[in-house]
Amino acid sequence: MPKTLVTLHVNGATYEVAVKPQDTLALALRDGCGLTGTKIGCDMGTCGCCTVLVEGRPVLSCLTLALEAEDWQIETIEGLSGAERLHPVQEAFATCGGSQCGYCTPGFVMTSVALLRDNAAPSRDEIKAAIAGNLCRCTGYAKIVDAVEKAGSDMRSADAGATPPTTGEKDDAGIQGRRQTAAAGR
Ligand code: FES
Ligand code: FES
Repeated sequence: MPKTLVTLHVNGATYEVAVKPQDTLALALRDGCGLTGTKIGCDMGTCGCCTVLVEGRPVLSCLTLALEAEDWQIETIEGLSGAERLHPVQEAFATCGGSQCGYCTPGFVMTSVALLRDNAAPSRDEIKAAIAGNLCRCTGYAKIVDAVEKAGSDMRSADAGATPPTTGEKDDAGIQGRRQTAAAGR
């Protein structure tokens, strides 16, 4: 089947990608743009691994045709971090142990970034609702919820220009968060 050139705007850059009519955005990002941070898990809309942001909203790129995405503003995991440091959500996932296999993590991170842009201080229930479409097959969700909660707190502190907590305070907060999570059963 002949290919068509589609213009994709991803992370502030423009890519011209040759795609077949049936090619998904996930495929075009990975094979056409070389942005392999977006993972393809189920390839049928059930796991959330392929989540990217389109105009700031989480979208399953395995259910989106590349041709549909022409001229949309797309963000992928590669666009989050700067040259020097990770995005606060990425930092929090690393600190809290929210990233285990790395396969589902980009989707969780992108979904969480969108949540925190809309709601700077989500409750644990709001976090669980936001990530309900992202599946983790290997460990569970407690540390992931901890990470999103911590990222929100870190981002609010940064916005307020507040002095970051000391390492000891951070450790205490993490232990407290894990206790709360354990008590909540997730
Ligand atoms: S790969 Fe898209 S939802 Fe699973
Ligand atoms: S951490 Fe990726 S599936 Fe659980």
